[in-house]
Amino acid sequence: MYAQMVKSEATKDDPEQLAAFQARVDADEKIEPKDWMPEGYRKTLIRQIGQHAHSEIVGQLPEGNWITRAPTLERKANLLAKVQDEAGHGLYLYCAAETLGVSRDELTEMLLNGQMKYSSIFNYPTLTWADMGAVGWLVDGAAIMNQVPLQRTSYGPYARAMVRVCKEESFHQRQGFHVMMAMANGTADQKRMAQDALNRFWFPALMMFGPSDKDSVHSSQSMAWKIKMNTNDELRQKFVDETVPQAEYLGLTIPDEKLTWNEDTKEYDFTEPNWDEFFDVISGNGPCNVDRINMRQKAWDDGAWVREAMIEHAEKKAARKLAAE
Ligand code: 3HC
Repeated sequence: MYAQMVKSEATKDDPEQLAAFQARVDADEKIEPKDWMPEGYRKTLIRQIGQHAHSEIVGQLPEGNWITRAPTLERKANLLAKVQDEAGHGLYLYCAAETLGVSRDELTEMLLNGQMKYSSIFNYPTLTWADMGAVGWLVDGAAIMNQVPLQRTSYGPYARAMVRVCKEESFHQRQGFHVMMAMANGTADQKRMAQDALNRFWFPALMMFGPSDKDSVHSSQSMAWKIKMNTNDELRQKFVDETVPQAEYLGLTIPDEKLTWNEDTKEYDFTEPNWDEFFDVISGNGPCNVDRINMRQKAWDDGAWVREAMIEHAEKKAARKLAAE
């Protein structure tokens, strides 16, 4: 049932209701949980918001890995705050998804059994402290590029969650850039580590925007419904155009020999990521997919007693209330 819920967008809705709904979306009205919505709209939102929530939660793992090894107390406090923020983002997003009639438990089960995805980027390892800089700068930078437009998405709870998330992601991007500045202006070894981190994270960061437009299955319907505000390639281009000057400021080199400024288009020409690698990673075969899911499974299993205790507490409270009436 749930596989169908997250995969299928083809549904039979009344044409008149559909037209009235589309008119509301076109007029930039927010759709709220109790409003009528096409089944495909609801399913697409559950898929995208759920995947986004999972990305925030799984995204804690590669950085959480470095909290105990941060070089100073200040860096440790910043990283700790950032990782904690990601948990909060996951919770806002799971709450937004719940308004569409799916529970957090169901979403988690679908993550763990492979029916739902999370961002490809978190299947790459973080090997050195410089990776904390590259992740904040590039990964959170790419996330903001994608999420700022989503503040205007048509579904009210998702749009409102994005406003809070984006504020915090900006801090994350800056703390990452600050780590990169310290490394790039540090010793020769530190600069080498910063360049190495950029070399490893550049193409995976470009992949975060999804496949090229010609291979994007959902873009056209999602954009018509304003669940997505831009195509994958539009946002990827914008990210490259904004990030190249930042790399120049750091004195680092983007690992792309074809990267050139195009005077005609006023944009950078760049090499596309390796799409075979992307599809392999999102099919479960990236360097860290198994580890990430195992960690989430362990957290889910270890937390079972808390969930059970909370349910029992709520049931007892309800029974006491009933007995008192
Ligand atoms: N990682 C994993 N899967 C991806 C992907 C990625 N980077 N990009 C695309 N895909 C998957 C899609 O889910 C879809 O598979 P499905 O049909 O099985 O779900 C398939 O590839 C085809 O891609 P489409 O372009 O058709 O998919 P979408 O229209 O959903 O576009 C998206 C992909 C641009 C990522 C869109 O879903 C989106 O904007 N999502 C919201 C933002 C989000 O999820 N961000 C996560 C980033 S990480 C983060 O924010 C954490 C922070 O701490 C940094």
